Amino acid sequence: METIVAEKKNKQSTADFLPLEGTDYVEFYVGNAKQAAHFYKSAFGFQSLAYSGPETGVKNKVSYAVRQNKLTFVFTTALRSNNEIAEHVYNHGDGVKFLALRVNDATDAWHQTTKRGAKSFLEPEKLHDEHGEVVISGINTYGETVHLFIERKNYNGAFMPGFVEWKTGYNPPSTGLQYVDHCVGNVGWHQMNTWVKFYEDVMGFKNILSFDDEDISTEYSALMSKVMSNGNGYVKFPINEPAEGKHKSQVEEYLEFYDGEGVQHVALATNDIVETVNDLKSRGVEFLKIPSTYYDDLIERVGKIDEDVEPLKELGILVDRDNEGYLLQIFTKPVEDRPTLFFEIIQRKGAKSFGKGNFKALFEAIEREQELRGNL
Ligand code: FE2
Repeated sequence: METIVAEKKNKQSTADFLPLEGTDYVEFYVGNAKQAAHFYKSAFGFQSLAYSGPETGVKNKVSYAVRQNKLTFVFTTALRSNNEIAEHVYNHGDGVKFLALRVNDATDAWHQTTKRGAKSFLEPEKLHDEHGEVVISGINTYGETVHLFIERKNYNGAFMPGFVEWKTGYNPPSTGLQYVDHCVGNVGWHQMNTWVKFYEDVMGFKNILSFDDEDISTEYSALMSKVMSNGNGYVKFPINEPAEGKHKSQVEEYLEFYDGEGVQHVALATNDIVETVNDLKSRGVEFLKIPSTYYDDLIERVGKIDEDVEPLKELGILVDRDNEGYLLQIFTKPVEDRPTLFFEIIQRKGAKSFGKGNFKALFEAIEREQELRGNL
């Protein structure tokens, strides 16, 4: 059953002990950062931002930062074997390592969370260069995923100390992607509530929506999900766990191939989903296919919308409505060979929910892919 519980509580709550200003960046550990950066530039419309590697005094790894509007992605690869990055890629394939959150005080964020039980990943550290100072700290979350706290109010360089501005003549235009709307984590069997409690106790988040296996079960696959949000709603982390179904849950398939818990998808916001998805498709981004029957009674289901149905149908964009408005969304296929991380493209028109009305169509589409892989 879908429940909205947080709105009132948030309004009543006193000072937020962990005020977050939003997502600062998402960092991926990958097998080949140079090629990953190129892919996200050419296919997703990011622009070159900053580089870090042996030439900038970093000996064991290379990182490329790319940016599009308020979205910053970093791709990091190991230069040698037998280290934490190489191990991470060996175990998980390419995946999200850091969900970095912007704060005004990274030292306080670390103290507030670790004293509430967070396991420290990185004690507050001050990084300097000629452009100023960044303070960075971090705590562990599910799997090997880490939340970094980034304080950059006294910094005006391209990205971070240790990086130099990455200038190149190859800068494909933006596809209109704006910012991170939400990041979803897949956790193990019966682990959802443990992580809900972690976000409540350690980070002061609230559970704003819950979906049980009756909301999210198709004939085969099932999962449960709870959406965690920080006080101002800038940072939202839905947490999924697998549920028993006739066949293997899509979350179970992820856990098997990622070899543990991790980030399932990152939702990227756009102001014009038809234009953005057209652009992404023309650049080779692959999306899940939705049967055209989904659109037969779309307007009866969701009411009047600003968009023409025909382009939505052509592209496979889904629509859902809640009390506050509606949203349009579409999901890519996994962006690496393992059936693990994928992206959602989302345009919100008032709706603050996550497309519950689309779960059936979406999960049936995911299962068709699972079946092709022999993992259903
Ligand atoms: Fe999502």
